[in-house]
Amino acid sequence: MIVTIDGVAASGKSSVSGGVARALGVPFISSGLLYRAATLLGLEARLDLHSAPALLAHLHTHPLRLEPLAQGNRVWQEGRELTDELHSSRVDRGVSVVAVLPEVRAWVDAQLRALPSPFVAEGRDMGTNVFPHAGAKFYLTASPHIRAQRRAHERPEDVPAIEAALIHRDELDRVQSAPAADAVVIDTGPLTLNGVIQTILAQLPE
Ligand code: ADP
Ligand code: CDP
Repeated sequence: MIVTIDGVAASGKSSVSGGVARALGVPFISSGLLYRAATLLGLEARLDLHSAPALLAHLHTHPLRLEPLAQGNRVWQEGRELTDELHSSRVDRGVSVVAVLPEVRAWVDAQLRALPSPFVAEGRDMGTNVFPHAGAKFYLTASPHIRAQRRAHERPEDVPAIEAALIHRDELDRVQSAPAADAVVIDTGPLTLNGVIQTILAQLPE
């Protein structure tokens, strides 16, 4: 079975997906890492991030591979591991420009659909576009302030700057971030990480 966990930036998608996947004994897939890796390569090559032909040509000559391990996803560009470089503020700022390009979305979608199930997939459009026939779908939310406070443990900027950047990125990602009509929406604000994981596990079909 495929379980999808979508949601806004820093709502807890990857931490929650990891916990749910471990409980189920299946891998999880962090789709955002492919958008982040495409952005990092584009920045390093000084490409115009608005130009799909330039980015796609670069991705074909520099193939990326997502390794969906149960303990955390890794991304490789041939022998080089990119994982630790994907959560910089510079990639945060550029990624939505890249993710809006239909050609890049098709490239990511093809890689995700080629992965063997079962798994938990997290991102923005896992339950709507990529795996519309998933067996269970969830959508995580939390206020921008709570999300910024959480992310402040992982970024050098202060909470107001992170909050402003999250609100801006939510807006840029709005089109592909609509919840699936059949997704269970969970406000993670009042919950602990484990509370969200248990809420999801309790609602999975037998
Ligand atoms: P996303 O994948 O949606 O960007 P993350 O899983 O990276 O979100 O979560 C962002 C941060 O918030 C992490 O440090 C994570 O441990 C923390 N976090 C996530 N969910 C909760 C929660 N319900 N309560 C407290 N902290 C949380
Ligand atoms: O963890 P966070 O929510 O901050 O980011 P992410 O899930 O790693 O996604 C990074 C970016 O990739 C998002 O801001 C979107 O622009 C894009 N993305 C997307 O468009 N569709 C997805 N399924 C996943 C990510």
